[in-house]
Amino acid sequence: MDPFIDISNTTIESERLILRYWQMGDLSDFYEYASVPGVGEMAGWKHHESMEESKKILSLFMEEKDVFAIVSKAEEKVIGSLGLKKSCTEAFPEYQKLKMKEIGYVLSKDYWGRGLMTEAVRRIIRFCFDTEGIEALTVGHFIDNYRSKRVIEKCGFQYVGSGEFYSSQLQKSFPEMRYILLNSPNPM
Ligand SMILES: CC(C)(COP(=O)(O)OP(=O)(O)OC[C@H]1O[C@@H](n2cnc3c(N)ncnc32)[C@H](O)[C@@H]1OP(=O)(O)O)[C@@H](O)C(=O)NCCC(=O)NCCS
Repeated sequence: MDPFIDISNTTIESERLILRYWQMGDLSDFYEYASVPGVGEMAGWKHHESMEESKKILSLFMEEKDVFAIVSKAEEKVIGSLGLKKSCTEAFPEYQKLKMKEIGYVLSKDYWGRGLMTEAVRRIIRFCFDTEGIEALTVGHFIDNYRSKRVIEKCGFQYVGSGEFYSSQLQKSFPEMRYILLNSPNPM
């Protein structure tokens, strides 16, 4: 099951971060981190070549209402994104009946290695499980993305198997490791 979570009226706080709905005023912050080569590529999308490209994606975030902007409280700027998308049911066949969402995230390279994404993901887990009644969260990382692997492990996800992720933007298939986190230890 893929319940839709409309995040457009939701603001979530953690110690150092605010997670909120995107605004058009975030465009230059978004372009600043999304245009850095090698950041989006680790999540399967090509770094942005123009502000116009970032604007299209930002409009999509606003339309689809399922991606949070991650705001640094200290810097008062957007430094990343965290989305709640449809889980790939073929990858998790035995969990298909559960209310399930897939998380995906990207952080500005300037902020890597300070535990910020772990903080954001932990907070989103609580929001999904405690507020939205989600029964399972799924996530995946490309096989050589050790930073993301650590975030996933630190947040308590369990490895379920490997697969392939095809990126049409990068025209390439990536071997991927997939994980799940259950809200209850005996969900079925
Ligand atoms: C993945 C990403 C979100 C991590 O964010 P972050 O805020 O730097 O993550 P954290 O600081 O919470 O944790 C990073 C962990 O990786 C570890 N790490 C850093 N560099 C590493 C490396 N080269 N090899 C192995 N581990 C590494 C850190 O030590 C830390 O683990 P620790 O707390 O056990 O020491 C960020 O690097 C990013 O946006 N990358 C590009 C996009 C991306 O990969 N998105 C995820 C797609 S699945």
